[in-house]
Amino acid sequence: MPRPLVPTDPSLRSNVILSLPGMDNATRVPDSAVSTFLTLFMRTVTFTIANQKGGVGKTTTAVNLAAALAEKKIPTLLIDLDPQANATSALGVEKKEGLSLYGPLRGEGKAGDMVVSTAYANLELIPSEEDLAAAEIEIAQSDNYLNKLRTVLQPLKDAGKHRVIIIDCPPSMGMLSMNSLAAADFLLIALQCEYLALEGLGQIMRNVERIREAGVNRSLELGGVVMTMFDIRTNLARQVVEEVRKHLPEKPFDTVIPRTVRLSEAPSFGKTIFAYDPLSPGATAYRNLAKEVIARFKLKESA
Ligand SMILES: Nc1ncnc2c1ncn2[C@@H]1O[C@H](COP(=O)(O)OP(=O)(O)O)[C@@H](O)[C@H]1O
Ligand SMILES: [Mg+2]
Repeated sequence: MPRPLVPTDPSLRSNVILSLPGMDNATRVPDSAVSTFLTLFMRTVTFTIANQKGGVGKTTTAVNLAAALAEKKIPTLLIDLDPQANATSALGVEKKEGLSLYGPLRGEGKAGDMVVSTAYANLELIPSEEDLAAAEIEIAQSDNYLNKLRTVLQPLKDAGKHRVIIIDCPPSMGMLSMNSLAAADFLLIALQCEYLALEGLGQIMRNVERIREAGVNRSLELGGVVMTMFDIRTNLARQVVEEVRKHLPEKPFDTVIPRTVRLSEAPSFGKTIFAYDPLSPGATAYRNLAKEVIARFKLKESA
């Protein structure tokens, strides 16, 4: 679990606040100001949503979880690391040549210069472009090939502008996804509620081990499993959920994302589910997931 830099204990917390210049016992600090202060001074938590399988709900989860956290006033940066740029278009951002992590990954420019604002408050994006596909090959040919993304993102993390960074990965365990594991604090797995869903878990956990053992990111942890595309009408979906809960009791989030057509329609309008259909079951599910994420990773004082 990430450790906040500022104490969470209320009495210690007020000592920290009172130690600020211009504050004394007579100065009333509203709780909201305390929360804002604490959020600002807590470190950035980086999540990667990686999985070698395509079509399991990674991008849908990356986009809508990021949007839900932003809706809860958590400064969030979504990084689109998939050359297909689905997350970029799902946020209604146009792809632009030279605007992605491709340049920074090959030593040209800074990640910070690639950050763009979105239509949503508290949500920024580093878009993707097709050229990023070349990074898969170029990174593999370079020194320190597992550390590229981590190094490129470090100044952004140090700047502390974002409380959360979410990385959306391509549907393969290539160099970009492996680099995202090296750069992240936590892996979130999107797991489609379907036959053989558990088989993929073994492979991704072996990659987590590889990253830890290579010494590039010893603190990488499986942060959670998001079960997606749950079809209430099938027994199979229920069985998958039960299986996952049995094998990884602490990891699955209680919130299960339902299969709903609204979630699949939203990206074609360049909208998150909250902008497209804010009262739909998909929107409610991603809001609930965000609440769990906030509580599990202590992203806010008042989770
Ligand atoms: N909960 C859901 N209900 C219905 N369709 C979904 C859901 N989640 C994702 N989809 C759709 O399934 C397809 C694959 O999802 P996506 O998030 O792009 O997966 P990935 O990024 O893992 O390839 C997309 O067309 C997406 O709109
Ligand atoms: Mg995707």
